[in-house]
Amino acid sequence: MSTLDTLITEVDNALRTLFPPAQRTSTRPSPAQSLTDIDLSIKEKKHVAGLMRVNHAGEVCAQALYQGQALTAQLTHIKKQMSDAAAEEIDHLAWCEERLTELGSKPSLLNPFWYGGSIILGALAGFVGDKVSLGFVAETERQVSAHLQHHLQQLPAKDKKSQAILFKMKEDEEQHATTALNAGAIELPYIVKQLMRVVSKLMTKSSYYV
Ligand SMILES: [Fe+2]
Ligand SMILES: [Fe+2]
Repeated sequence: MSTLDTLITEVDNALRTLFPPAQRTSTRPSPAQSLTDIDLSIKEKKHVAGLMRVNHAGEVCAQALYQGQALTAQLTHIKKQMSDAAAEEIDHLAWCEERLTELGSKPSLLNPFWYGGSIILGALAGFVGDKVSLGFVAETERQVSAHLQHHLQQLPAKDKKSQAILFKMKEDEEQHATTALNAGAIELPYIVKQLMRVVSKLMTKSSYYV
């Protein structure tokens, strides 16, 4: 692709991620689809919406991370696995959007900011090298899984729909981390991992509210 084609594709991907269509197409139906929604109190609804907004923001970051990585990393030996993982991230994005709408809420207003930061980080990691790029993916997916586990514990016990979504997402993220590790991901230095935790904390704390 020419530089212009790449630029157009990138802008298109960013717009598709940041401005959700009325119904986003996903390859797999939401794990919550067959479950009946239960009545939640206003307070519970607000809390669950906050959690789902954070998870949605995380998926926006995942989109940007995979986009950034595709710009600079070679990863020819696992191109198929990487594009499968990216497609699964679109499913996650769609499921979170659907749940947010059901809860009468909206995605985070800060998403453009997280998208911009993540695409730069993804591209930088890919620029350093494939093993670093995969290390970055593995560590991100590991941190996301841990954070999803934490959210699963915070959801009201009766909200089976949100639980089903987060549970399946966690399973996928763990698989993404394993794929990256098996493909040769290196362990990132402790300081980088800590820095990632700080940024992620910033994202989760703010996106819960706006
Ligand atoms: Fe995801
Ligand atoms: Fe993932």
